[in-house]
Amino acid sequence: MRRKLAAGNWKMNGTSSALGELTSLANTYPAPSVEVLICPPATLLHRAAETVHSTHIEVGGQDCHANGSGAHTGDISAEMLVDAGATAVILGHSERREDHDEQNEDVRAKARAAMDAGLKAIICVGESLEQREAANTLDIIGGQMSGSIPELSTGENLIVAYEPIWAIGTGKVPTLDEIGEVHDFIRARLERRFGEGVGRSVRLLYGGSVKPGNAAEIFAVSNVDGALVGGASLKAQDFAGIIDALQNA
Ligand code: 13P
Repeated sequence: MRRKLAAGNWKMNGTSSALGELTSLANTYPAPSVEVLICPPATLLHRAAETVHSTHIEVGGQDCHANGSGAHTGDISAEMLVDAGATAVILGHSERREDHDEQNEDVRAKARAAMDAGLKAIICVGESLEQREAANTLDIIGGQMSGSIPELSTGENLIVAYEPIWAIGTGKVPTLDEIGEVHDFIRARLERRFGEGVGRSVRLLYGGSVKPGNAAEIFAVSNVDGALVGGASLKAQDFAGIIDALQNA
């Protein structure tokens, strides 16, 4: 049985005052039946971890370096995320692939480092609008998966997030059939590569304009085990609508 996961990606949003949203979330969900994860900016991670300490909310990073330490100004290692209180890290988000020219092999090296440090790696894949319109979606996703997902992946340390680039922050969402097609494809690929046992145990998240109003129908799609949420994770009240939908799915 895969444990459902509601994950929030705050991206480059939030200063000290945003920690109050975490307190509200922890108070609203003293014992959630799904996993709840918030990935704040690195500057807030340690305080966020302290804020949710002894609650059922987990915190994670938004990126890590492939090396454990060294001369990499501005970067953060997986060990540092663990030390700050993280249990997971988002890797290969399309914004990092675009803003920092991250390639599949970079994402794979980071994921290896994250898994070695004991973090769950949430590896993001997703097509652009041009790629979808050219009917290349599954080829693109397949290539990103084989390039970005490391060999040591298991149902515990790997989570795959399908985030169509054109759906991020736009209010546009693929049809439920389109989401189902990609998630079924990701599941089949994982089973083929890692065997049925591991392939079936990896959680698959959908991300891209998930809101309280559309969450329930998305969570009813086969092989959708939760969501990776941007904008609607910034306010506890909005994210609560999504957590509720997932708890009822
Ligand atoms: P939005 O929910 O704001 O569309 O962002 C999705 C996302 O990129 C999460 O990683």
